Amino acid sequence: MFAFRMQLKELFALFSMMSLNVPLAPTGEEMESRFENEQKLKLDLFENYDGTMFPKLTRPLMVQPMMTIDHIRSINEEQGAMTISMTLYFIWTDSRLQWNRTEYGGIKAFAKNHYENMAWNIWSPTIFITELPGVNTQTDLFLNHDVDFLVHYTGSVTATIKVLINTPCLLSFGDYPNDYQNCSLTLMTPYTANV
Ligand SMILES: *[C@@H]1O[C@H](CO)[C@@H](O)[C@H](O)[C@H]1NC(C)=O
Ligand SMILES: *[C@@H]1O[C@H](CO)[C@@H](O)[C@H](O)[C@H]1NC(C)=O
Repeated sequence: MFAFRMQLKELFALFSMMSLNVPLAPTGEEMESRFENEQKLKLDLFENYDGTMFPKLTRPLMVQPMMTIDHIRSINEEQGAMTISMTLYFIWTDSRLQWNRTEYGGIKAFAKNHYENMAWNIWSPTIFITELPGVNTQTDLFLNHDVDFLVHYTGSVTATIKVLINTPCLLSFGDYPNDYQNCSLTLMTPYTANV
């Protein structure tokens, strides 16, 4: 069992570290060539890909979790809980999804959404989250949510999932605006260390 805990303060710090890159709009020709290259790339990558198989590993798979808070939906002071809308990111490497950029018009990465992935089926880890509102049992994040995948030519896969989380908090509104809320979130995987 692996458990991951993070304080809200750290989450906010992560959030403020993120930056946005806005690319310049491509021309019609560039878009067409990009489309063809991406189509060829996906066909080549997924022709013999089996998403039910664990990625081939020479060492234990590292799944790196990150998260940002989108907004706080509600605060229940009596129960000491908050409902938070969050975006979770999980990053791992699947060496089957590597490619040579020069052979595909320089494509560095492509995205796939949940619906596309039903057909293509990228392997994803099983991750349970315990703090979901109205749910008493653990819920598998990747099976029960819309997931967006970003696949990088190095084989690095970033999965983005939006969730609503009900987290117990030690709420203290005593000395506003210097008060802080101590909330925690537990993510678990059923994998053992030597998978
Ligand atoms: C990528 O492909 C190009 C063109 O086929 C080749 O020259 C180059 O050596 C390849 N790079 C790698 C890292 O395989
Ligand atoms: C937050 O709560 C946890 C568990 O109750 C405690 O271990 C931790 O020290 C608290 N953190 C702060 C900054 O108060």
